[in-house]
Amino acid sequence: MHYPIEVAQLSPAIGAEIRGVDLAREVDDACLGRIRQAWRDHLVLLFRGQRLDDAALVRFTSRFGALEIAPLFQGRRFVENFPEVMIISNVKADGREIGSLGNAEAFWHSDLNFVEQPPAGSFLYAYEVPPVGGDTGFANMYAAYETLPEALRARIAGRRIQHDARFNSAGYLREVQVPDALHPIVRTHPETGRLALYLGRRANATIEGLPADDSEPLLDALWAHATEARFTWHHQWRAGDLIAWDNRCTLHRRDSFDESHRRVMHRTQSCGTRPN
Ligand SMILES: [Fe+2]
Repeated sequence: MHYPIEVAQLSPAIGAEIRGVDLAREVDDACLGRIRQAWRDHLVLLFRGQRLDDAALVRFTSRFGALEIAPLFQGRRFVENFPEVMIISNVKADGREIGSLGNAEAFWHSDLNFVEQPPAGSFLYAYEVPPVGGDTGFANMYAAYETLPEALRARIAGRRIQHDARFNSAGYLREVQVPDALHPIVRTHPETGRLALYLGRRANATIEGLPADDSEPLLDALWAHATEARFTWHHQWRAGDLIAWDNRCTLHRRDSFDESHRRVMHRTQSCGTRPN
Protein backbone atom coordinates (compact mmCIF):
# COMPACT_ATOMS: atom_id res chain seq x y z
CA MET A 1 0.00 0.00 0.00
CA HIS A 2 1.07 3.56 -0.63
CA TYR A 3 0.11 6.05 2.04
CA PRO A 4 0.66 9.81 1.70
CA ILE A 5 1.89 10.02 5.28
CA GLU A 6 2.12 13.10 7.41
CA VAL A 7 5.01 13.69 9.83
CA ALA A 8 4.11 15.79 12.90
CA GLN A 9 6.85 16.73 15.36
CA LEU A 10 5.96 15.83 18.96
CA SER A 11 8.38 18.02 20.90
CA PRO A 12 11.27 20.39 20.20
CA ALA A 13 13.70 17.74 21.46
CA ILE A 14 12.71 14.44 19.94
CA GLY A 15 9.89 12.43 18.42
CA ALA A 16 7.39 12.65 15.58
CA GLU A 17 3.98 11.16 14.98
CA ILE A 18 3.44 9.45 11.64
CA ARG A 19 -0.17 9.85 10.54
CA GLY A 20 -2.09 8.24 7.75
CA VAL A 21 -0.61 4.76 7.68
CA ASP A 22 -2.10 1.38 8.55
CA LEU A 23 0.80 -0.86 9.57
CA ALA A 24 -1.38 -3.96 9.59
CA ARG A 25 -0.95 -3.78 5.82
CA GLU A 26 2.31 -3.87 3.89
CA VAL A 27 3.58 -0.35 3.15
CA ASP A 28 5.28 0.31 -0.18
CA ASP A 29 8.96 1.24 -0.52
CA ALA A 30 8.31 4.94 -1.12
CA CYS A 31 6.21 5.17 2.03
CA LEU A 32 8.78 3.19 3.99
CA GLY A 33 11.52 5.51 2.71
CA ARG A 34 9.65 8.50 4.16
CA ILE A 35 9.14 6.69 7.45
CA ARG A 36 12.82 5.82 7.69
CA GLN A 37 13.81 9.39 6.85
CA ALA A 38 11.51 10.63 9.61
CA TRP A 39 13.15 8.10 11.95
CA ARG A 40 16.60 9.49 11.15
CA ASP A 41 15.34 13.05 11.61
CA HIS A 42 13.23 12.57 14.77
CA LEU A 43 14.75 9.43 16.41
CA VAL A 44 11.43 8.25 17.85
CA LEU A 45 8.27 7.62 15.81
CA LEU A 46 4.75 7.24 17.15
CA PHE A 47 2.00 5.50 15.13
CA ARG A 48 -1.41 5.76 16.78
CA GLY A 49 -4.55 3.71 16.33
CA GLN A 50 -2.83 0.62 14.94
CA ARG A 51 -4.30 -2.87 15.05
CA LEU A 52 -1.23 -5.08 14.95
CA ASP A 53 -0.79 -8.75 15.65
CA ASP A 54 2.64 -10.30 16.18
CA ALA A 55 3.01 -11.16 12.50
CA ALA A 56 2.42 -7.53 11.50
CA LEU A 57 4.78 -6.25 14.19
CA VAL A 58 7.51 -8.62 13.01
CA ARG A 59 6.87 -7.74 9.36
CA PHE A 60 7.13 -4.00 9.95
CA THR A 61 10.27 -4.39 12.10
CA SER A 62 11.88 -6.47 9.34
CA ARG A 63 11.73 -3.43 7.06
CA PHE A 64 14.37 -1.90 9.35
CA GLY A 65 16.75 -4.87 9.20
CA ALA A 66 17.17 -8.38 10.57
CA LEU A 67 15.34 -9.05 13.82
CA GLU A 68 16.87 -9.91 17.17
CA ILE A 69 15.61 -13.09 18.82
CA ALA A 70 14.07 -12.29 22.20
CA PRO A 71 15.72 -13.94 25.21
CA LEU A 72 14.00 -16.95 26.74
CA PHE A 73 11.67 -15.93 29.55
CA GLN A 74 11.53 -18.26 32.56
CA GLY A 75 12.85 -20.98 30.27
CA ARG A 76 10.23 -20.54 27.56
CA ARG A 77 9.30 -18.29 24.69
CA PHE A 78 7.21 -15.22 25.33
CA VAL A 79 5.04 -15.87 22.28
CA GLU A 80 4.78 -19.28 20.66
CA ASN A 81 5.84 -19.16 16.98
CA PHE A 82 7.25 -15.64 17.29
CA PRO A 83 10.72 -15.96 18.86
CA GLU A 84 11.39 -12.30 17.94
CA VAL A 85 8.63 -10.98 20.19
CA MET A 86 9.19 -10.09 23.83
CA ILE A 87 6.33 -9.24 26.20
CA ILE A 88 6.69 -6.29 28.54
CA SER A 89 3.96 -6.66 31.13
CA ASN A 90 3.01 -6.81 34.80
CA VAL A 91 0.12 -9.23 34.13
CA LYS A 92 0.05 -12.68 35.71
CA ALA A 93 -1.81 -15.63 34.28
CA ASP A 94 -2.17 -18.81 36.35
CA GLY A 95 0.19 -17.29 38.91
CA ARG A 96 2.97 -16.73 36.39
CA GLU A 97 4.14 -13.46 34.88
CA ILE A 98 3.40 -13.27 31.16
CA GLY A 99 6.17 -10.73 30.53
CA SER A 100 9.11 -8.73 31.86
CA LEU A 101 9.66 -5.55 33.86
CA GLY A 102 6.64 -5.63 36.19
CA ASN A 103 5.14 -2.29 37.18
CA ALA A 104 8.21 -0.56 38.63
CA GLU A 105 9.94 2.50 37.32
CA ALA A 106 12.51 1.69 34.65
CA PHE A 107 15.51 3.99 34.82
CA TRP A 108 17.04 5.80 31.86
CA HIS A 109 18.86 3.39 29.56
CA SER A 110 19.35 2.22 26.01
CA ASP A 111 18.41 -1.37 25.25
CA LEU A 112 21.02 -4.12 25.52
CA ASN A 113 23.87 -1.64 25.90
CA PHE A 114 25.90 -4.39 27.59
CA VAL A 115 26.16 -6.65 24.53
CA GLU A 116 28.70 -6.37 21.71
CA GLN A 117 26.13 -5.37 19.09
CA PRO A 118 23.19 -3.61 20.73
CA PRO A 119 19.96 -3.40 18.70
CA ALA A 120 19.52 -0.56 16.21
CA GLY A 121 15.80 -0.12 16.72
CA SER A 122 13.21 -1.08 19.30
CA PHE A 123 9.52 -1.38 18.41
CA LEU A 124 6.99 -1.33 21.23
CA TYR A 125 3.30 -1.91 20.62
CA ALA A 126 0.65 -1.32 23.29
CA TYR A 127 -2.21 -3.81 23.72
CA GLU A 128 -3.35 -2.68 27.16
CA VAL A 129 -2.28 0.36 29.15
CA PRO A 130 -3.04 1.63 32.66
CA PRO A 131 -5.33 4.69 32.94
CA VAL A 132 -2.49 6.60 34.56
CA GLY A 133 1.27 6.00 34.89
CA GLY A 134 3.61 3.87 32.81
CA ASP A 135 4.55 6.79 30.55
CA THR A 136 7.74 6.32 28.54
CA GLY A 137 10.31 9.10 28.24
CA PHE A 138 12.86 9.49 25.47
CA ALA A 139 16.02 11.61 25.36
CA ASN A 140 17.99 12.82 22.32
CA MET A 141 21.65 11.82 22.61
CA TYR A 142 22.77 13.78 19.54
CA ALA A 143 21.58 16.93 21.29
CA ALA A 144 23.17 15.80 24.55
CA TYR A 145 26.51 15.39 22.80
CA GLU A 146 26.28 18.60 20.79
CA THR A 147 25.57 20.70 23.90
CA LEU A 148 28.10 18.98 26.15
CA PRO A 149 30.33 21.57 27.87
CA GLU A 150 33.78 21.63 26.29
CA ALA A 151 35.51 20.58 29.51
CA LEU A 152 33.37 17.44 29.76
CA ARG A 153 33.82 16.67 26.08
CA ALA A 154 37.60 16.82 26.51
CA ARG A 155 37.50 14.46 29.49
CA ILE A 156 35.66 11.72 27.60
CA ALA A 157 37.54 11.99 24.30
CA GLY A 158 38.56 8.50 23.18
CA ARG A 159 37.22 6.90 26.36
CA ARG A 160 34.99 3.87 26.75
CA ILE A 161 32.39 2.76 29.27
CA GLN A 162 32.37 -0.72 30.68
CA HIS A 163 28.67 -1.64 30.62
CA ASP A 164 27.35 -3.85 33.38
CA ALA A 165 25.14 -6.73 32.30
CA ARG A 166 23.81 -7.92 35.64
CA PHE A 167 20.69 -5.81 36.16
CA ASN A 168 17.79 -4.89 33.92
CA SER A 169 16.33 -1.39 33.70
CA ALA A 170 13.99 -1.96 36.65
CA GLY A 171 16.94 -3.01 38.81
CA TYR A 172 16.22 -6.75 38.79
CA LEU A 173 18.96 -9.32 38.38
CA ARG A 174 18.94 -10.78 34.90
CA GLU A 175 18.17 -14.49 34.55
CA VAL A 176 20.91 -15.04 32.01
CA GLN A 177 24.46 -13.90 32.57
CA VAL A 178 26.25 -12.30 29.64
CA PRO A 179 29.71 -10.76 29.73
CA ASP A 180 30.03 -6.98 30.06
CA ALA A 181 30.82 -4.95 26.94
CA LEU A 182 33.08 -1.94 26.35
CA HIS A 183 31.73 0.78 24.05
CA PRO A 184 32.94 4.28 23.17
CA ILE A 185 31.21 7.05 25.15
CA VAL A 186 30.72 8.97 21.92
CA ARG A 187 29.53 6.88 19.00
CA THR A 188 28.99 7.64 15.34
CA HIS A 189 25.54 6.78 14.08
CA PRO A 190 26.04 4.40 11.13
CA GLU A 191 23.19 5.88 9.06
CA THR A 192 23.39 9.60 9.78
CA GLY A 193 27.12 9.94 10.53
CA ARG A 194 26.21 12.13 13.52
CA LEU A 195 27.91 11.82 16.91
CA ALA A 196 25.82 10.74 19.89
CA LEU A 197 26.51 10.30 23.57
CA TYR A 198 26.29 6.59 24.37
CA LEU A 199 25.84 6.04 28.10
CA GLY A 200 23.86 2.78 28.25
CA ARG A 201 22.68 2.69 31.85
CA ARG A 202 24.10 4.21 35.01
CA ALA A 203 24.10 1.34 37.51
CA ASN A 204 27.55 -0.23 37.92
CA ALA A 205 28.97 1.44 34.83
CA THR A 206 32.62 2.45 34.94
CA ILE A 207 34.87 4.39 32.62
CA GLU A 208 37.69 2.22 31.41
CA GLY A 209 41.09 3.19 32.74
CA LEU A 210 39.85 5.64 35.37
CA PRO A 211 39.87 5.04 39.14
CA ALA A 212 36.40 5.02 40.71
CA ASP A 213 37.06 8.42 42.33
CA ASP A 214 37.30 9.92 38.85
CA SER A 215 34.91 7.65 36.97
CA GLU A 216 31.92 8.09 39.30
CA PRO A 217 31.71 11.91 39.30
CA LEU A 218 32.39 12.03 35.57
CA LEU A 219 29.56 9.57 34.86
CA ASP A 220 27.27 11.50 37.21
CA ALA A 221 28.03 14.73 35.32
CA LEU A 222 27.39 13.07 31.95
CA TRP A 223 24.09 11.57 33.13
CA ALA A 224 22.92 14.82 34.70
CA HIS A 225 23.52 16.57 31.39
CA ALA A 226 22.14 13.85 29.10
CA THR A 227 18.82 13.58 30.94
CA GLU A 228 18.07 17.30 31.22
CA ALA A 229 14.41 17.98 30.44
CA ARG A 230 15.29 20.00 27.32
CA PHE A 231 16.44 16.81 25.53
CA THR A 232 13.40 14.75 26.46
CA TRP A 233 9.79 13.99 25.61
CA HIS A 234 7.41 11.75 27.56
CA HIS A 235 4.70 9.68 25.95
CA GLN A 236 1.37 8.80 27.54
CA TRP A 237 0.34 5.53 25.94
CA ARG A 238 -2.98 4.54 24.42
CA ALA A 239 -3.82 1.01 23.34
CA GLY A 240 -2.97 0.71 19.64
CA ASP A 241 0.15 2.91 19.86
CA LEU A 242 3.34 1.67 18.24
CA ILE A 243 6.58 3.48 19.05
CA ALA A 244 9.77 2.83 17.11
CA TRP A 245 12.89 4.33 18.66
CA ASP A 246 16.42 4.49 17.41
CA ASN A 247 18.36 2.79 20.18
CA ARG A 248 21.70 4.14 18.91
CA CYS A 249 21.04 7.81 19.64
CA THR A 250 18.39 7.84 22.38
CA LEU A 251 17.80 6.90 26.00
CA HIS A 252 14.41 5.88 27.37
CA ARG A 253 12.79 5.36 30.75
CA ARG A 254 9.41 4.39 32.14
CA ASP A 255 7.29 5.70 35.00
CA SER A 256 5.96 3.20 37.50
CA PHE A 257 2.24 2.46 37.55
CA ASP A 258 -0.27 0.94 39.96
CA GLU A 259 0.19 -2.80 40.09
CA SER A 260 -3.58 -3.35 40.10
CA HIS A 261 -3.69 -2.05 36.52
CA ARG A 262 -2.80 -4.10 33.46
CA ARG A 263 -0.13 -3.05 30.99
CA VAL A 264 0.63 -5.37 28.07
CA MET A 265 3.14 -4.44 25.37
CA HIS A 266 4.83 -6.53 22.70
CA ARG A 267 8.33 -5.57 21.61
CA THR A 268 10.60 -6.42 18.70
CA GLN A 269 14.11 -5.20 17.92
CA SER A 270 16.17 -4.83 14.78
CA CYS A 271 19.82 -5.87 14.87
CA GLY A 272 22.51 -3.24 15.20
CA THR A 273 26.25 -3.07 14.70
CA ARG A 274 29.07 -2.64 17.17
CA PRO A 275 29.17 1.00 18.36
CA ASN A 276 32.18 2.93 17.07
FE1 LIG B 1 14.28 -0.58 27.42
